[in-house]
Amino acid sequence: MDAQRVDLILIGARGKVGAAFRQLLARQQLALLAEVNLDLRLLAAFDRRGFAFDAIGLAPGSLEGAMYARAGADVERLIEFVATRAGVPTIAVDCTASDEIADLYPQLFDKGIGVVAANKRANARTLAFYHGLQRSAREHGVPYRYETTVGSAIPLLGPLRDLRLRGERVESLQGVLSGSLSYILHRMHEGCPFSAAVVEARDLGYTEPDVMEDLRAIDLSRKLLVLAREAGFSMEVDDMRVELLGDLQIDVDDVVPALQLLDDGWRIRVEAALARGERWVAVAEATPDAARIGLHSLPAHSPFAQLAPGQNLIEIRTELQDRMPLRVSGPGAGVEITAAGVLSDAVSAAMHWPSRH
Ligand SMILES: NC(=O)c1ccc[n+]([C@@H]2O[C@H](COP(=O)([O-])OP(=O)(O)OC[C@H]3O[C@@H](n4cnc5c(N)ncnc54)[C@H](OP(=O)(O)O)[C@@H]3O)[C@@H](O)[C@H]2O)c1
Repeated sequence: MDAQRVDLILIGARGKVGAAFRQLLARQQLALLAEVNLDLRLLAAFDRRGFAFDAIGLAPGSLEGAMYARAGADVERLIEFVATRAGVPTIAVDCTASDEIADLYPQLFDKGIGVVAANKRANARTLAFYHGLQRSAREHGVPYRYETTVGSAIPLLGPLRDLRLRGERVESLQGVLSGSLSYILHRMHEGCPFSAAVVEARDLGYTEPDVMEDLRAIDLSRKLLVLAREAGFSMEVDDMRVELLGDLQIDVDDVVPALQLLDDGWRIRVEAALARGERWVAVAEATPDAARIGLHSLPAHSPFAQLAPGQNLIEIRTELQDRMPLRVSGPGAGVEITAAGVLSDAVSAAMHWPSRH
């Protein structure tokens, strides 16, 4: 039997997750062919600066040499090329944090191109936009997957969808969902100053490209919104209450000196919590009617307070799993693990291309 060829268009090709994804794809291409008869090729790759295309397939591990300066119409031409050729399912893999790329999804679906996203922007817009995307992907018979947008590669959105499909009502969600904030708080409990912990998290690739998105819980709010919507809760951005690090009014390129001003205040709060036998934890919670993100000082023995740095834990209570909630845990951030989750989504989307059934 001929192998099933599926082409990928990688967006954010030289970003942290995009680059790790390329290396992993390069390592796995032959194994995918041998094990599941899937010929997964990199048709094109681009970022804001550069573009690369090869109808036969680019070498994902050594892309730099193939990239040239991006011209205005490159992306439009690529989409038209894919739309007019027949027979090769194509998936755009969005490894950006860009609204401009999220704007493209409806057009991609319309042209028969599936989407695998690490970018959570699209699903965290209005509920109508979120439902519209789901509907559009369905109507055009293309996959739309975004497992890594919440909890990195932890299987979380898939199981939530399964609960919904088998008619098991989700009653509440509670969890530590931010790999970056949990890492930062963990390091602060070890005595690391707040500003230094933020820099460490950024250097380890745990934060968003703009760390203020993590500290203002903007990124965490988006995750909770996506999670709540996947649980079937009809939630809008305005339904989220965020009570976290206070009103962080830092609007400069180099945030570190501004964060250093907060180091003493944080040291006092952390020492006081430790003296009470507690630890600060950023907890995200949602029920069908409300969603909230807050910093809680929890007993050090509670499951949420015992998490390793960067680890996420989500408790899902349903009508059938109430007294003993479903608990899902694992690394909530990290470039390699996120890239691995993106590849899982791409492989699964390629192997279960909806319009083939
Ligand atoms: N790091 C993690 O642990 C983690 C975990 C889960 C999910 N994610 C998600 O993964 C995504 C990527 O994160 P990252 O850490 O890899 O970010 P990053 O290193 O800043 O990379 C972002 C990439 O996106 C490209 N890009 C931005 N705007 C674009 C546009 N309009 N058109 C084309 N390319 C564009 C950038 O290209 P230029 O360099 O040319 O600007 C860059 O290649 C984010 O959505 C993040 O939330 C990350």
